[in-house]
Amino acid sequence: MIETFKKEVKLGLDNNPKTLPSKYFYNKIGDALFVEIMNLPEYYLTRSELDIFQNRTQELISGLQLKANAHFELIELGAGDGLKTKKLLSALDKQDFTFDYLPIDISSNALSLLKKDLSETLPNVSVKTQQGDYFEILASLKNSNKPKVILFLGSNIGNMKDAWAAEFIYNLGANLKPGDKLLLGVDLIKPKEIVLPAYNDNKGITAKFNLNLLHRMNEELGADFNLENFKHQPEYNEAEGVAKSFIVSIVKQTVNIKSIGVSYSFEAEEKIHTEISRKYNDALIEKIIANTDFSLDTKILDSKGYFADYILTRH
Ligand code: AVI
Repeated sequence: MIETFKKEVKLGLDNNPKTLPSKYFYNKIGDALFVEIMNLPEYYLTRSELDIFQNRTQELISGLQLKANAHFELIELGAGDGLKTKKLLSALDKQDFTFDYLPIDISSNALSLLKKDLSETLPNVSVKTQQGDYFEILASLKNSNKPKVILFLGSNIGNMKDAWAAEFIYNLGANLKPGDKLLLGVDLIKPKEIVLPAYNDNKGITAKFNLNLLHRMNEELGADFNLENFKHQPEYNEAEGVAKSFIVSIVKQTVNIKSIGVSYSFEAEEKIHTEISRKYNDALIEKIIANTDFSLDTKILDSKGYFADYILTRH
């Protein structure tokens, strides 16, 4: 783990322009900051998708073609606190659907909290938590002959470049059978007046989230980043629908990373690209799934038209 972290940091900082992978945002501090982000007034994404799960639940159920008499598996990738999914689970429970809910997460802590919460709030739902890597777990579930629905919510796919997203969806399809479904939640392209504040909140939580990467390298790799000398900078290109986060060096400076045995110099205003948060439209989704085994069935929007849950069928 630490060896991969070192390798990927070196690879990213050797690049010109410099980059760092956003997956390293998510340690204990980063997870807590992301929960704060999801509750920020500027971060509309969570509320928009919750609006769909709360107010368009029946459309989700009919779009997924769930049948009350056929036992199915509802598999969620990166379940977190399950806030949105609970709305769907509760409706399925009330309508006497027979299913297992299989939340997959890398964090065993998040999974045990979710399991405890569901055992209290929805005691009739069968919850089988799965800790580990998405694809290893999906491969282990492949042999069950129950119909499957995969939930990949929160525009998490948007943190992948398009080619990588296409490969990811292709690999999901490889672990499913014809007729299985994928519910893909994505943020839609919209004006920068709405998108940019979501990545540049007034309280500076997103800035802390981004700069936590440097803090983490100090703690885990023996780096000597002075966080006062770096700032968070989001950018959004509305024509492309791509939001990017950068860490910008405020001054000309040199940073040592002890455990890698290297020093990096930064010019004043030099940027490290840390994250991509892609926004979508139908054409982009069609393009991403073009070489996968999925076809597009339905799209369900929130009341403001900010966010979409696309329902895809494995053919
Ligand atoms: C997890 N992911 C979908 C978030 C996003 O919107 O790209 C991560 C995030 N980065 C900054 N704020 C939130």
